[in-house]
Order: sequence, then C-alpha cells, then structure tokens
Amino acid sequence: MADAALRLTGVGVRRDGRDILGAVDWVVGPDQRWVVLGPNGSGKSTLVKIAALQLHPTRGEVEVLGEQLGRTDVRSLRQRVGYAAAALADMLRPTITARDVVMTARHAALEPWWHSYDDADRAEALDRLDRLGVAHLAEREFGTLSSGERQRVLVARTLMGDVGLVLLDEPNAGLDVGGREWLVAGLDDLAADVATPAMVLVTHHVEEIPPTFTHALLVRDGDVTAAGPIEETLTAESLSDTFGLPLDLTRRGGRWTAWAGKNIKP
Ligand SMILES: Nc1ncnc2c1ncn2[C@@H]1O[C@H](COP(=O)(O)OP(=O)(O)O)[C@@H](O)[C@H]1O
Ligand SMILES: [Mg+2]
Repeated sequence: MADAALRLTGVGVRRDGRDILGAVDWVVGPDQRWVVLGPNGSGKSTLVKIAALQLHPTRGEVEVLGEQLGRTDVRSLRQRVGYAAAALADMLRPTITARDVVMTARHAALEPWWHSYDDADRAEALDRLDRLGVAHLAEREFGTLSSGERQRVLVARTLMGDVGLVLLDEPNAGLDVGGREWLVAGLDDLAADVATPAMVLVTHHVEEIPPTFTHALLVRDGDVTAAGPIEETLTAESLSDTFGLPLDLTRRGGRWTAWAGKNIKP
C-alpha cells in the first residue's frame, strides 16, 4: 500500500500554558478527501498548519508523504504539500498575475523574481489554473479578481509541482452564495479526479462540503470528537456534540445542511 499522505500520532500543541490541540491521531490515505469541521477556535487551523509543515507541534509524531518530521529536510518536503490559507492571500502583492500566484508555489515563494522559472513551469501553472476553470484569468492581476476567482486561483496554486497532499483552510470564507457554490463545484470536480492527491478541506459549515468528499474529522476544543468515513462520522449526534448545541442534519443531492433543533436556548 502507498504511504499515507499524512499520519499524526499523539500530536499536541501547547500555548500560554493551555493545550490548543490535545493528542490528535489522524491518518489521511493517499486517495482520501477529508473535511475538517469544528467551531471557531477549536484548533482546525493549528492542525492544518502542522500538516502543512508550517508549525512544529509541542509533542507527537508527524509523518507527511512517508517522511517523518524531524528526520527529513522540511523545506523540500514542504514543496510537496499544497497549502492555502487566508494569511497567504493577504501577503500576495495585488499586482502579481494569477499565473505567477500559481507558479511561485513551486518554491513556496510569493514573488516570481526570488527564483528562476522556465516555460515548463509557466505551462504547468496554466494547466493548474485550467483545472480550476480559470485559465482565462492567467494574466490578470490578483488584486483585480473577484473573491471567488481569487479562491480558485489559490486552490490552483496548491496543485503546482509534485504535490501529494492538498490542504485548504476555509477557502469559502467571505464568499457570497454564488462564489461559494462555484468553489464547491470546483472542489467537487477536483476531488472526483483520481489524479488529484489527498485533500483536506477545513470549514465550519457542512453546507460547504463537496459531495465527493469521503471522510470527516470533527474537532472541539483541540480534541477530535469523531473521525472516519463521512457517512458514518457526520451525524446529527456528532455534529451537535462538536458544536455544543442541538443540531439537525440532512443530506440531499450529496449536499449537507445543518440547523438548530427545537431545543436551542434563545
Ligand atoms: N500562537 C498562538 N498562541 C496562543 N494561542 C493560539 C495561537 N494560535 C492559536 N491559538 C489559539 O488556539 C485556539 C485554536 O486556534 P485555531 O487553530 O486558529 O482554531 P480554528 O482554526 O478552529 O478557529 C484558539 O483558541 C486560538 O486563540
Ligand atoms: Mg481557522
């Protein structure tokens, strides 16, 4: 069997005398698509930053694409992990082209002049934009794109290079319903493609889960409350437990909807 894309064993993070992550065990298989759900402040971004090799945990073992953190060159391993988070978008120069946003991921860079690139890199960036249906935006300045277009470009960036794990931290944040639905459809196409590496999508809305996603990890106060195949893991009970309020949950046409049950306190 191929190596797991991600294997966390007893991973915890302690900050200011408090465990913001308890002891997380989590294995992401090479062809799995995981959604990470949990309330604000539950530790989702911290967890994904560890997987992206951007943050070293206080304790536990981190294995990414068969390589163990602490026993491997983290800079070269980082290039095999595609990671998109709001903080990155904020650091990009507004006049950088969409193509360069994608291309610079080859060196985990933010500007094209920090490294040299060839025609093959430029062609690959265009191919990644095309996979998200935004190749026509290649020469547009990032700052002139709509929020929905920007998110698609950032997802395309995560696919640049020899990537074995794609991590998307709340790519839907701030999108209107049209932008959200367009992104969910794009992520669904990507997840359905066997050529796409393992994927992890962080959100706090079940409405944003693409239908083809296969697994779910639920977190509350830094602890995993449920994890496994999405059909058995994502239930009204597990969701209520994770968000700390009584929730009903339905699935229709592959999409999920959650709402507060009758017992919610006004
Ligand atoms: N560097 C840090 N120092 C102290 N506390 C932090 C730090 N980073 C995150 N936290 C805290 O850890 C908790 C989890 O944060 P985060 O992983 O961003 O949650 P989420 O992405 O689920 O909203 C929050 O309470 C947050 O305030
Ligand atoms: Mg977060």
